Amino acid sequence: MAKIFAFTTALSSIAVAIPALAQQASPISLASAEARAAATVKQMTADEKVVLTHGIMPLPLGGIAVEIPQDAVPGAGYIAGISRLGVPALKETDASLGVSYVMGLRKDGATALPSGVAQAATWNPDLLYSGGATIGGEARIKGFNVLLAGGVNLARDPRNGRTFEYLSEDPLLSGVLVGAAIRGIQSNNIISTIKHFALNGQETGRKYVDVKISEGAARESDLLAFQIGIEQGQPGSVMCAYNRVLGHQACDSDWLLNKVLKQSWGYKGFVMADWGAVPGIQAALNGLDQQSGAQLDPAVFFGDQLKAKAASERAYAARLDDMNKRVLTAIYATGLDKHPVTPGGEIDFAKHALVAEEVAKQGIVLLKNSGNALPLAKTAKSIAVIGGYADGGVLSGAGSSQVHGVGGPAVSRPVQGSGPLASFIAQQYHRSSPLEAIKAMAKDAKVSFRDGRYIADAVEKAKQAEVAIIFATQWTTEGLDVPDLSLPDGQDALIAAVAAANPNTIVVLETGGPVTMPWLDKVAGVIEAWYPGARGGEAIASVLFGETNPSGHLPLTFPASETQLPRPKLDGSDWVEPDFMGGATSGSDKLYADYDIEGSDVGYRWFARQKAKPLFPFGYGLSYTSFSNSDLKLAGLKASFTVRNTGQRQGDDVAQLYLVGRTGQEKRRLVGFQRVSLAPGAQQQVSLTIDPRLLADWKNGGWTMPAGDYAFALGQDAEALGAPVTVKLAARTWKD
Ligand code: BGC
Repeated sequence: MAKIFAFTTALSSIAVAIPALAQQASPISLASAEARAAATVKQMTADEKVVLTHGIMPLPLGGIAVEIPQDAVPGAGYIAGISRLGVPALKETDASLGVSYVMGLRKDGATALPSGVAQAATWNPDLLYSGGATIGGEARIKGFNVLLAGGVNLARDPRNGRTFEYLSEDPLLSGVLVGAAIRGIQSNNIISTIKHFALNGQETGRKYVDVKISEGAARESDLLAFQIGIEQGQPGSVMCAYNRVLGHQACDSDWLLNKVLKQSWGYKGFVMADWGAVPGIQAALNGLDQQSGAQLDPAVFFGDQLKAKAASERAYAARLDDMNKRVLTAIYATGLDKHPVTPGGEIDFAKHALVAEEVAKQGIVLLKNSGNALPLAKTAKSIAVIGGYADGGVLSGAGSSQVHGVGGPAVSRPVQGSGPLASFIAQQYHRSSPLEAIKAMAKDAKVSFRDGRYIADAVEKAKQAEVAIIFATQWTTEGLDVPDLSLPDGQDALIAAVAAANPNTIVVLETGGPVTMPWLDKVAGVIEAWYPGARGGEAIASVLFGETNPSGHLPLTFPASETQLPRPKLDGSDWVEPDFMGGATSGSDKLYADYDIEGSDVGYRWFARQKAKPLFPFGYGLSYTSFSNSDLKLAGLKASFTVRNTGQRQGDDVAQLYLVGRTGQEKRRLVGFQRVSLAPGAQQQVSLTIDPRLLADWKNGGWTMPAGDYAFALGQDAEALGAPVTVKLAARTWKD
């Protein structure tokens, strides 16, 4: 829905061996959708003009009375339609990982994709498209026509409780991937959001934390991820965020919504509020188009109140027409009205599980493999599997994105806590048991399991086995950040003790994001499986035993310790009382997050600037084969190089191109990437076109590239870089 900037980014062209799930919807021209929307607005009465502007959460939430319309589906949101004008009601569900279970109110099951970071670790836009198409299709069958997906906030802090829902710390990787996921979702003729706009970097005090950042730093980082995602995904809606930015609530920010999104980027869709994020009616003038879940706000601002304002104030009247036009443009552009959603039909869960499994397989990252301890031999005689509820299933993250597979979770551990959501939040494990999948791979082995609660008992089992596989978990949730990056519940001590007893110890991590690994030197192998979704157990076993050659690469930096982060202590973590909602509001005016510390140098760029050595760098990931990159050539913004499989097995590499220097100054920016599938000995030529924004600075209201030498290098990751190749580029300045 934005003006498309004339460039092509490095889209992967890998054909993924998964079923075609939806045809790309025939594109409806934005201009014709907009013209039709304007014509419909002309026909609207004053009452009709405040129908599409607000909605409810169609759920019987304790204590808040709300009338639930008959055609509503239990989900996150409901916006009434206008049948006289053929405008359908908007029925909204979360989210990027599958159709969510809305706090236990849906028992109908849905396919759980792996977490957002797991999806990003594939570096494979085609796979994100397939995932989006899959969950968008399920949303349709369940009666929804809006998916509250597209989480693309940059991972500025690995302790953020929602890291698992987002993608990465890099604007290019995040933007390209979210764009693909959104295209997949909207291929079902439904609307997807992109969220949470913007700078929603932590859950601690999420509704009031005030982010300080310069415009240049924001434009080159978090906002660039949104900009690329909007260009490539054309989402019907942008969901604004809970936090404040430069003193204003994000959903009431004239700078973010009017100046950047609508004026500078030319976005034509609508801005919907996050749930309970609207501070007042003036948000309409500041660019907000729709009030979501209005019973969670202090009042229904965008209903009768807005009608009255529009009757007496010109600015509100003009905005009200524009608000309607924007919602209708999104409806018409996605074809949502022409392809009405009617609940019903069968979901092919078996077929969809294959998509989830493929994402998990391509997203699992092999972090350590001493002496080729992996892959494990299927002829192993004895295996001790320890911890992580591996006998039951695989961990998932909690909050509004929580998905229940068919039959609900295999394991559900309640967590104590205060606040209205506490009773709904639990540590849930999808029904995909790694233990069973390991047994199926190693048919002749004696496979024993210990839950890991008693260290001595686990050590005893590990001693008796040829190989010990420890499943270590870090549960994370919306509404709550983790206090540090250790593995909770004494798991670090468990791993150290088991590794001391059996040198052939493999650690499988199921974590929301980065963790520290004080035991790393002691273990033979480590794989990061993230929250691996509906078929995570099978995907993990497939990687462990080499049926899948690991090819995931880290979409975020794993720090060696919290002291390396721009904020060694997370702002507010010492005084905000946790309550699964981001924390009670007392003292709310005192919470600031200073993002000017790192500016646009998020993640690996901060580490490069500080010359700090992380535990594992951004882009890192091992394989059971080996690759080489060579012959890097640059002609203007066009780069080409060769990737070769130099090992003995078929495998996928993720080629990464970085800017490493500009006019004599050191830089570190990912400027292109491509997943390449290669047979042993095979090679492929890769060509990429570099988006000039990745080489530029944002200053004085536009992009600026100084004239001079630009140095680029191919990297196995953000640190293991090849020899730089330099190209002279002319000075350039341009607007969005
Ligand atoms: C979350 C959104 C979500 C919404 C509706 C909010 O708490 O921040 O991501 O889409 O709830 O469930």
